[in-house]
Amino acid sequence: MGTPLTPDSRVTPVGIDFGGSGIKCAAVDLASGEPGERARVETPKPSTPEAVAATVVALLARFPEATGRVGVTVPGVVRHGVVHSAANIDRAWLGTDADALFSEATGRQVHVVNDADAAGLAEVEYGAARGRRGLVIVTTLGTGIGSALVHDGVLVPNSELGHLEIDGHDAESRAANSARKAEDLSMKAWAHRLQRYYSTLEMLFSPDLFVVGGGISKRADEFLPLLKLDTEIVPATLRNEAGIVGAALLADRS
Ligand code: BGC
Repeated sequence: MGTPLTPDSRVTPVGIDFGGSGIKCAAVDLASGEPGERARVETPKPSTPEAVAATVVALLARFPEATGRVGVTVPGVVRHGVVHSAANIDRAWLGTDADALFSEATGRQVHVVNDADAAGLAEVEYGAARGRRGLVIVTTLGTGIGSALVHDGVLVPNSELGHLEIDGHDAESRAANSARKAEDLSMKAWAHRLQRYYSTLEMLFSPDLFVVGGGISKRADEFLPLLKLDTEIVPATLRNEAGIVGAALLADRS
C-alpha cells in the first residue's frame, strides 16, 4: 500500500481561466484556496481551440513545479469535457472535446469546466458563501451572465441562467455588465434591470443566498443597495481569482 495522501503531500493543481480578453493561470493551494503568482496573456484572436491550446501549453510551462491536475474554464456549457455552447467565444469551440484537446496538447490530465461553475464553487468553498448551506446562486456579471447553482456545497453544473428569457430578451443582453457599458447606463438604470433579473431568479429558485461576481462586483456598494429582494445578496470576495481557484479545485476532484 502506498502512503496515504495528505493535503501537504499532494501535488499542486493548476487553474487556468480562459476569458474573452485574457487567459490567466496560477498554481493553487487547495488547503487555503490561495492562488500563487499569476501569469496572464492576451486571449488569441480569433480564440480558436487550437490557438487557445497553444497558449495554455505556453502558460503551463511557466509553472514547472505545479505538477498536479490542470483545470481550465471555458465561457460555455461543458459536458464531460465537450463544449456545447459558444455565446461569447469563437464558434469553432462548439462540439470540441476540450478535455482531449488540452490533455493531448499539454501531456497533462486536463479537466475543462464552465467559467461560472468554477467561480461559483470557489466562492462556496473559500469566499463569500463559505460554510453556507441550502441553495446558493452565484452569478457573474461580465460580458455575459454566468451562473452557478450550489446546494449544500454540491454544484449542479451548466445552469446557464444568464440566458433566461425575461420580457422577451435574453437576460444577459440586458443585465450583463457589458450591456451597462454599451448603453452607458447609470448605476440606477442598470440596477433596475438587475432588479428584474434577480427577482425572476428568486421567484424560480427560492435561493438562500445570491453571490454577485465579475469585475464589477468591486463596485457592489453602488448597485446592490438599490436592489429590493427577500434573499440576501452579497458581493463575491475572490474576485479575479475565483475562476482559477475553482478550476483547480474541480480538476483536483475530477
Ligand atoms: C455563457 C455561459 C458563461 C457566461 C459567463 C454566457 O454567455 O453562455 O456559459 O458562463 O456567459 O461567461
